[in-house]
Amino acid sequence: MAATKQPQPGVEPEQAPESLDACRRCALWEHATQAVPGVGPRHAPMMIVGEQPGDQEDLQGKPFVGPAGAMLDRALEEAGVARKAVYVTNAVKHFKWEPRGKRRMHKTPGQREIDACHYWLDRETGKVEPKVIVALGSTALKSVLRNSKATLQASMGHAIEHEGHAIIATYHPSFALRAPDPETRERAYKAIVDALREAHRLVTHHRTR
Ligand code: URA
Repeated sequence: MAATKQPQPGVEPEQAPESLDACRRCALWEHATQAVPGVGPRHAPMMIVGEQPGDQEDLQGKPFVGPAGAMLDRALEEAGVARKAVYVTNAVKHFKWEPRGKRRMHKTPGQREIDACHYWLDRETGKVEPKVIVALGSTALKSVLRNSKATLQASMGHAIEHEGHAIIATYHPSFALRAPDPETRERAYKAIVDALREAHRLVTHHRTR
């Protein structure tokens, strides 16, 4: 007999919440401290989209303030981009984690959670109207392109025109922090800096609208 899908308690995928704190479009809110909204100027020409808040971001309520954020800051500086001029956000706004001993270990969000949270990313891109969106990692890329099959491999190295924005895909800083060998970490970090440089160049020269 085919199993019928049980509704998850406290989840309303069709909900159109007015505030992130009230969001029950997926179940991640239940185990997160708080939702983490994007931060940056209302009409920033560049938007950076990460995956989801990590442990520190969940506690502080701000995106990219932990170790991945420190690496992003370093890459932005090297690329000549002021973080305060950029709108920084995530594809998924609640921290998804599993316990390991006393620690909360990051768990990659699933497609259902990416889809549910696209509601918020869509609102942010609609408000900010960035010329260029830098997608850090494959979760961000899938969300930004609205394509669950999008891969970093196929999308890196060139800007993709999508719904009036130029999309630049690169590695997530966590990959550049945690890849097992130093050459891969260095290569990934360089790719992030290059992507941010290219985004900066497009912001200065590119006309999408
Ligand atoms: N990783 C992300 O993708 N986003 C954050 O805000 C922090 C870590």
